[in-house]
Amino acid sequence: MAQQSRRAFLKSAAAFGGALALPSHSRASNSLPLLRAMPSLAQIAPPGYQETPVWSYATDGAAAVPGPELRLKAGQRVTRRLVNDLPQATAVHWHGIRIENAMDGAAPLTQAPVPPGQTFDYDFVAPDPGTYWYHAHNHSMEQVARGLAGPLIVEDRRPWLGEQGAATRELTLVLDDWLLTRDATIVEDRWHDLHAASHAGRLGNTVSVNGKAYPEYAIRPGERLRLRLINTATARIMRIGLPGLSPRLVALDGHPVVPRSAETVTLGPAQRADVVIDAALDPERPAALLLDPGRGDWVDIASFSYRGDPVTPTASDVMPLPSWGTLPAPDLSNPQQERLLMEGGAMRGMDGAMYQGEQMDFRELASRGMVWAFNGVAHGMDEPMFRAPLGRTVRMQLSNRTAWPHAIHLHGHHFTVLSRNGSKDPHRDVRDTILMGPDEEAEIAFVADNPGRWMVHCHMLAHQKAGMMAWFEVS
Ligand code: C2O
Ligand code: CU
Repeated sequence: MAQQSRRAFLKSAAAFGGALALPSHSRASNSLPLLRAMPSLAQIAPPGYQETPVWSYATDGAAAVPGPELRLKAGQRVTRRLVNDLPQATAVHWHGIRIENAMDGAAPLTQAPVPPGQTFDYDFVAPDPGTYWYHAHNHSMEQVARGLAGPLIVEDRRPWLGEQGAATRELTLVLDDWLLTRDATIVEDRWHDLHAASHAGRLGNTVSVNGKAYPEYAIRPGERLRLRLINTATARIMRIGLPGLSPRLVALDGHPVVPRSAETVTLGPAQRADVVIDAALDPERPAALLLDPGRGDWVDIASFSYRGDPVTPTASDVMPLPSWGTLPAPDLSNPQQERLLMEGGAMRGMDGAMYQGEQMDFRELASRGMVWAFNGVAHGMDEPMFRAPLGRTVRMQLSNRTAWPHAIHLHGHHFTVLSRNGSKDPHRDVRDTILMGPDEEAEIAFVADNPGRWMVHCHMLAHQKAGMMAWFEVS
């Protein structure tokens, strides 16, 4: 299959005058910086293994996995010309950005997918500081699993790094999960695997940090660092431990929180956390980034090594990140009430659901690759799940009636988590993706202040593909 698509790619590349040639219209119009999506090779598995053929993003330099870090200040524009040098149509979604609808990259809802050899110009304002990411949003299961993801960092509105009680330095750590064969190539026959899709999703066997298995990062004894953790995996929930580094959480999905200690940080697919760590003064103390793959047996996925002169810590309390000041507070006095009921999957199944305008039973759905539903509709793309008038507060009850966790993402908005399983959420965290365990209930609220058509889906991309997908309209 891969061979075939590569051959097809070479054919189409030849039609465009060679793999590296741009279509003429994009050569003519100059100025936009490029974001090129293209096949390349990456050393994901440890040294000694072969390089992995991946799909990746490149700006000026070489293509990399994860894609190059895009960095800007809050309120600035992101301008990028996507050049599609892949053998498949693609689009770029700027995850978590409260973006203008036409730039959301949610193909085919907000734009047509960009065919091989074509370009699309993205130009939008990033209003809120924080840790975000960008990723392919067409054939997402396959394209993100092949490597099409990168960090997007919107800097703090006021200087924070270097201030009293803040960190002196920051590190972006993109966590990913690859399903590799023994010769380090990506297992390619599981994009439509209904078994994986009806269970936890397409789990990998190699966890990478910034595209590498077991990388090592140098820190100075006593140094205070800000880690920007991003889970770009298509299915794996990353439960992260930072023993001996007194981790404190300072932001979730880009939104600052009152700093709180976080012995473990759990990131569902697409979620982010900013964590401040204090390196020990004693350079003999081992320090690592640990992952719990689910059985409670923590494994190292990255390590820190002490180098350089000790830094004298400035304060024990962590200075909070400057607040956004840009998110309207939900008006809970008279919200529009909505619900999102998740059904289906292995162990529970469902009686049936609507699919493409027809009521179908479980068997008929499965034969079409559908095993999940939102509100009784599988892959609800024909009509919006709901409509909200511009400026209205939406309060949504999410019910996970399945035996599996899900990471539910709303495009174009950030929401406040009001409650979990009937009890008030003490933190009222603001997020763009909420991880829900089996049988969990949650209530969220947001101001529908961004006009357009916005996707809502599970970010376990095999689930999304197999039915956990819908959209709502704000106008
Ligand atoms: Cu991060 Cu619809 O996606
Ligand atoms: Cu899911």
